[in-house]
Parts: sequence; C-alpha cells; structure tokens
Amino acid sequence: MADAYDVLVVGAGTGGYSTALRAAQLGKRVALVERDDRLGGTCLLRGCIPTKALLQSAAVMDTVNRAQEWGIKASGDPDWSAVRAFEDKIVDKLVKGVTGLIKTRGITVLKGTAKLLPGPALEVDGQRVDATDVVIATGSAPRLLPGVEVTDRVITSDEALAYDRIPGSAVVIGAGAVGLEFASLYRSLGAEVTLLEALPGLAPLEDEDVSAEIAKAFRRRGIKASPGASVKDIADTDDAVDVTFEADGKAERVTADICLVAIGRGPVTEGLGLEDAGVALHEKGFVSVDGQLRTNVEHVWAVGDVANTPLQLAHVAFTEGYAVAERIAGETVPDIDYVNIPRVTYCTPEIASVGLTAAQAKDAGSKVATAHLDFRGIGKANMLGEGGFVKVVSEQGGGPVLGVHMIGPHVTDLIAEAMLITNWEAVPAEVAALIHPHPSLSEAIGEAHLALAGKPLHTA
Ligand code: NAI
Repeated sequence: MADAYDVLVVGAGTGGYSTALRAAQLGKRVALVERDDRLGGTCLLRGCIPTKALLQSAAVMDTVNRAQEWGIKASGDPDWSAVRAFEDKIVDKLVKGVTGLIKTRGITVLKGTAKLLPGPALEVDGQRVDATDVVIATGSAPRLLPGVEVTDRVITSDEALAYDRIPGSAVVIGAGAVGLEFASLYRSLGAEVTLLEALPGLAPLEDEDVSAEIAKAFRRRGIKASPGASVKDIADTDDAVDVTFEADGKAERVTADICLVAIGRGPVTEGLGLEDAGVALHEKGFVSVDGQLRTNVEHVWAVGDVANTPLQLAHVAFTEGYAVAERIAGETVPDIDYVNIPRVTYCTPEIASVGLTAAQAKDAGSKVATAHLDFRGIGKANMLGEGGFVKVVSEQGGGPVLGVHMIGPHVTDLIAEAMLITNWEAVPAEVAALIHPHPSLSEAIGEAHLALAGKPLHTA
C-alpha cells in the first residue's frame, strides 16, 4: 500500500514547520503532527517571540526613565497586565500567520502525540500513519537543577512568560542567553536582580572582551552578578525564595521574590519511542544525526533543538528544516557551517557575534589581528546614549575576517552585515572599501574594518 504521506513531521516549531513548508513547496504530500493547541513551538509560544515582545516593553520603560537625557519630560510605570497583553497580541498574530501559511501550502495538521514506529511510520494518538520519510522536530524544554522543582516562586522561562506579577526581586541562575535576557528585563521593570553563573564570566561562550563588557554594563545597571558561583540550595519558603551559593570560596545566601532557573535546555524525546525504533541518542539525550541531519535509521531525520547539532537557535532550526526538506526531495545540500551562524542576545546592552572568537581562532592555529571600535566614537550611538564596541578578528597580514563580536545598540540587527562578511570570507580591505551611511550605527562595522585595514578614521 502506498504511504499516506511523503513526509511526516513531528513538532510544529520552527524546525518542524520550516521542514513542512519547504517540503510542500517542493511538491511533497506533507503532514505535521502537533500536540499543543497552537502551532509555533518554543520560538512562537514560549521563546523568542514572547520574550522579545516583553523586552520591547522593557526598552520603552528604559527610554521613559532616561527621557530627560533627550530633553523630554516623561515618567511612568510598567502596567504588567498591559505588557502581557502586548506580548499575547504579538504571539497571536504570528501564530495566526504561520497557521494560515501551513493551510495555504496544503499541509495536513494532525493533532496529537506521535510515537515513531519502524517503517518509518508514526502512531498518532493510537492511529498508524505511514510515510516515506519522518522528521523529528520535537524541540527542547528548560532544564532544572537536580532535585529542584518548579513552584510558584522557582520558575523557568516557560513560567516567567505568563507570570502574574513583576517580581520585586529576582535571582537568575545561568548567564547564557535566557538568563541575561530575563535579568535585563526584570531590572528594566524595576526589580532588584542577582545573577549567578557557574562559569567564570557572564555570557561565557562569547569573546572574552564581550563577556567583560556585559559584566561592566550590568554592574552599571545595578544588577548584582556573581560569576564562578556554585548553587547549593534553592528553597521556596512560601513568602520568598532563599538561594544559597558559593562564590570566591565564600558561602552566600540571597533572598528574593522569585528564582528563575536558566541553565540550558534539554531535548524533548520522552514517549516518542525513539529507542524502540532503533534511533540512536547522544549521551545527553539529543537525537544523534550526521552532517546531513540523518539519524542512524534510514528515512528518519532530526532538526532543530532536539537534534545533536551545535546551536539551539530558531534560525538554525529554520536552516536545518529547509536543508532536510530539500534533501528528501532529492536535492544536494551541503552540510551546514555552524561557525558562521549569527548568535544574538537581546539584553541591554545587546550582544551579537558570528564566527570565531580571537581565542578560538588562535586555538585553530591562525595568527590573529584584531580591531576594536568603540561605539562612543560613532555619532549615532552618542545620540542613542549607548556605548559598547565592535571587535573584528581576522587573519594577520590582511587575511579573511574570521569573526565579529559586538555589544551595544542594535547589534542584533547589525550582525547581519557581519554574517555576510564572514560567510563570504571577505578581507578587511574589501569591507573598508565599502561605503557605510552616515550617521548610522553601521559605521562602527565600516570603521572597525578601516582600522584593521590600517587606515582608521575616527580612532587613533
Ligand atoms: P545556555 O546553555 O545558553 O546558558 C546556561 C548558562 O547556565 C551557562 O552559562 C551555564 O554555565 C550556566 N549554568 C549551568 N548550570 C549552572 C548552575 N548550576 N549554576 C549557575 N549557572 C549554571 O542556556 P539558556 O540561556 O538556558 O538558553 C537555552 C538555549 O536557548 C541556548 O542554546 C540559547 O542560545 C537559546 N536561546 C537563544 C536566545 C537568543 O538567541 N536570543 C534567547 C534565549 C535562549
């Protein structure tokens, strides 16, 4: 009997829906299985979109608080229910958009929980559905520390997005993207914030200068950060939460309204029947895939956060979904180059990077040259009243740009130019010859490359 579908996708997050959309575009009969009431997965429902909507409200609050710097008399307070309503409005609009698109492309949505069967096939709420190819895109969920459970006061980002109040004080555990963004959000909304990070610096995966700069900026914003902290205990005492930790060899305790645990995300594979169907898992439970995103079982693929690939990011999931759909359709698609994918964190100040850090480039055997362009030398950044820098790492002697690392105003948008520079292996002299608009923040990228090409403009 012919398979009911060419492609069955499990999970309607960014990885799953992008696979489905592209496969349908390529003429495949596609079904998307989702157990949530709404399509969109982590990014739309519990991640990128709702957090960035909240951070937009936080940015407005910051602007109001600083309005006098621009000669405007303004004051105000956050109205949490209105902030949450804005968050919901944005999420609803985008969910509606993607749901409509899936319908327009003729993709069948099967509501239910899927289990993988040999064949490959799926069992969806007891019903067998056959397909030529199955794509696992079940995503990830926040991890908790061992022995810690979610309570009213001990929460993860999932609970934080729908919380009933702005905490007066918060302990945030983990200074990766989630921890930095929530610490920044809570501070902008007026909370006292303590940020605990196990590794020696904040944003520990970023270039060391960026890591140092965000620590400085957070200190100026009044966020108390303890890198090198080892959390010993989190106790919800009903009217507060007590967090005990050790830092610099000293035992410390902090009491706050809430504790947000942001120590990373683990794969969602429970009940999926992967092991029974013979699909190999990585030791941390992610689905093992090769460079083409194939699992060890023929015609079973994995994309997005659940796959054992280097970055858990929505734009990575889109790219992986497109690649798998095209491979299923018989196209030759090269392995994804994960090094040159932009990484973005929407705290204040924003952080963005692409390519290798100076340390990584040296470890890889490169002789490295760097340029450091301070945003304070850029007119537009002065109007916005923000500092920070652009750091460019290249091969010594005029060789290609290997990495760009930024902290400061709107760098999560500016990184798109840096992405082109590293992916096209441009050399500093080529970028220096391109004309950036004045006055604009993008001049920081242009001037950093002018400096690296040996002809700095507004810097010494
Ligand atoms: P993460 O892995 O990026 O950061 C977690 C941090 O917690 C690490 O710095 C780690 O050293 C620290 N940590 C772990 N155990 C700890 C402990 N016991 N005590 C103190 N610190 C501890 O994970 P995060 O921030 O939860 O994000 C999950 C994923 O979602 C990441 O891949 C992230 O890149 C992605 N994401 C991306 C965003 C963006 O692109 N803007 C926004 C939010 C998340």
